[in-house]
Amino acid sequence: MNTITAAITAVGGYVPDFVLSNKVLETMVDTNDEWITTRTGIKERRILKDADKGTSYLAIKAAQDLIAKANIDPLEIDMVIMATATPDMMVASTGVYVATEIGATNAFAYDLQAACSSFLYGMSTAAAYIQSGRYKKVLLIGADKMSSIVDYTDRATCIIFGDGAGAVLFEPNYEGLGLQDEYLRSDGVGRDFLKIPAGGSLIPPTEETVKNRQHNIMQDGKTVFKYAVTNMADASELILKRNNLTNQDVNWLVPHQANKRIIDATAGRLELEDSKVLVNIERYGNTTSGTLPLVLADFEDKLKKGDNIIFAAFGGGFTWGSIYLKWAYDKK
Ligand code: UT7
Repeated sequence: MNTITAAITAVGGYVPDFVLSNKVLETMVDTNDEWITTRTGIKERRILKDADKGTSYLAIKAAQDLIAKANIDPLEIDMVIMATATPDMMVASTGVYVATEIGATNAFAYDLQAACSSFLYGMSTAAAYIQSGRYKKVLLIGADKMSSIVDYTDRATCIIFGDGAGAVLFEPNYEGLGLQDEYLRSDGVGRDFLKIPAGGSLIPPTEETVKNRQHNIMQDGKTVFKYAVTNMADASELILKRNNLTNQDVNWLVPHQANKRIIDATAGRLELEDSKVLVNIERYGNTTSGTLPLVLADFEDKLKKGDNIIFAAFGGGFTWGSIYLKWAYDKK
C-alpha cells in the first residue's frame, strides 16, 4: 500500500512546578473550591512564575521531553508548527525561536493561532504536509502561558486557565494509521464573546487600555459554554457518523479541557462510557493550546496501536472541530 497517512509517532509534555489550587484562589477573589469544582471540574492549575520566561519556555520543555523519550535527532525535523494564543511577542514568531533552541536547525517554523482550537487545527496542517509527501517529520507543539493574559481580579476567568505545553511528532505511515478524517469550522460571531480586546492593530496599546485591563482575556462564559457544548458534540457526532463508527468502535475521546461539564456533554452525546474519556482538567485547568497534547502525554500508556481516537475542541473566534485518528504505536 502506497497511500501516505499522517501518524503521531511520539508525544511529550511539560507543566511548570508551581501549583495554584482552588484554596489559594479563594484568598484572591470571591470564589470557593466547591463552586469551582462543581462548575468546572478544576481543582488546581500550574503557573509559570518566572517573570523572564514566556510560552517558548514551556514549548521547549515539551519538545525536549518528546525528543528525549523518542530518541529523535532534532536535525531530522523538517517543520515546527507552534500552536499558541500567547506568543512570546507579537512579532517575531515564537515557533522560530523554539525550533532553534531545540536544535531543529534544518526546520522552518511558524505560529498558528486559533485560540483553544489552535492544536486541533495544527493537527490538520501537520497531517496535510505529511500526506502530501513533502515532509517526513513535522513537530506540532501546543503551548500557552495563560497566566500572562489572565486578570487575577476577575473570578470569571482566573479560575479556569493554567499554563502548560505538549508536543507530538507527525510522520508518514503506510499501514493506514494516523489521521483519518477531520471536520473543522469557524464563525466570526464569536469574536465579541471571548477576546483580548487591545494590543492588536484594532486597538493598539495605550495607557488607557492598560488601565482598563483590555490586555487581559475576557469572556462571556455563559455564551461560550452554550456554543462549546453544541458544537463540540455536533462535530464529534458528525465525524462518527461519516466514518461509520459506533460508540463501541471508539476507544478514546480526547476532548479540549475547558470545562468538565462541556466534556461530559460531548461524551454523553456520543454515548461513551466515562472510562473512554481522557480527562486531566482537575490538575491543569484549561491550558488552551496545551490541553490535547497534554492529555496524550499523560495517558500515553493506555493508548494502543490501532485504537480509534476522537479529538474535539472549541475555542474563541469561534473555532471548533473534531478529528478522527488511529493511534500508531504501543509505548515501549
Ligand atoms: O476553551 C474555550 C474557552 N472557554 C470556555 O469554554 C468556558 C466556557 N464557560 C464556562 O466554562 C462557564 O460559563 C464558567 C465556568 C466560566 C462559568 O460557569 P457558569 O455556570 O456559566 O456560571 P455563570 O457565569 O452563569 O455564573 C453563575 C453565578 C453568577 O452569579 P449570579 O449572577 O447567579 O448571582 C456568577 O456571578 O456564579 C457566579 N460566579 C462565581 N461564583 C463563585 C461566576 N464566577 C464565579 C466564581 N466563583 N469563580
